[in-house]
Amino acid sequence: ENDILSKLPLKGKKLLLTAGPTYEAIDPVRFIGNHSSGKMGFAIANAAANLGAEVFLISGPSHQKINHSLVHRISVVSADEMYNAAHKYFKEVDIAILSAAVADYRPKNIATQKIKKTTSALEIELEPTKDILASLGEIKENQFLVGFALETNNELENAKGKLKRKNLDAIVLNSLQDKGAGFATDTNKVTIIDKDLTEKSFELKSKEEVAKDIMNEILKNIS
Ligand code: CTP
Ligand code: CA
Repeated sequence: ENDILSKLPLKGKKLLLTAGPTYEAIDPVRFIGNHSSGKMGFAIANAAANLGAEVFLISGPSHQKINHSLVHRISVVSADEMYNAAHKYFKEVDIAILSAAVADYRPKNIATQKIKKTTSALEIELEPTKDILASLGEIKENQFLVGFALETNNELENAKGKLKRKNLDAIVLNSLQDKGAGFATDTNKVTIIDKDLTEKSFELKSKEEVAKDIMNEILKNIS
């Protein structure tokens, strides 16, 4: 009996996850987006559910599939929709992991008709989206809040800055400098930094394995 319990250390716990890209509409047929596949986030959803957690997976447009009785998929498109969904579930969860590649900017005005081409340059004014992770950091009570950082330079320094600025308990730094790590790949190389700025670097491995490492680190911190 003890064995079963130790294999499901997150039984009874709830976890919020954001994953995938967001699409910000320009007109009825076009959007601003990015190459995030959602693979990392979906792998975390699966790893957490395998540990017994009930997972609220808020995902932007992604072809990833998940079939686990403990995972509820909430599909959104824009940063604003993701923000609203995240705030809807945050108060009732124990852990929140924000892995989505949220658009930082969106068109200030969405054209109601398809924009026609002309021979001159087209300017689209962009405005910042809301920072979902920072907003959760502001209202955090007992939730263990984890962010991701995607950096190409000054990686550790930038990641630590985000950890502090967004009031996180841990941040997962994605190293884009390594071949085979990042957006559309099946592998990833991460460094996990916790609140007291302890760094733990992991080898390049499959996103499924990286997801287990991330969940392991969280388990150590919450128990
Ligand atoms: N994030 C978010 N909402 C946003 C932007 C980012 O929740 N509008 C979250 C991401 O899901 C990630 C973390 O914030 O967990 C860091 O995202 P990242 O793009 O690396 O950092 P930014 O703070 O957006 O700064 P920059 O893109 O300029 O590096
Ligand atoms: Ca960003």
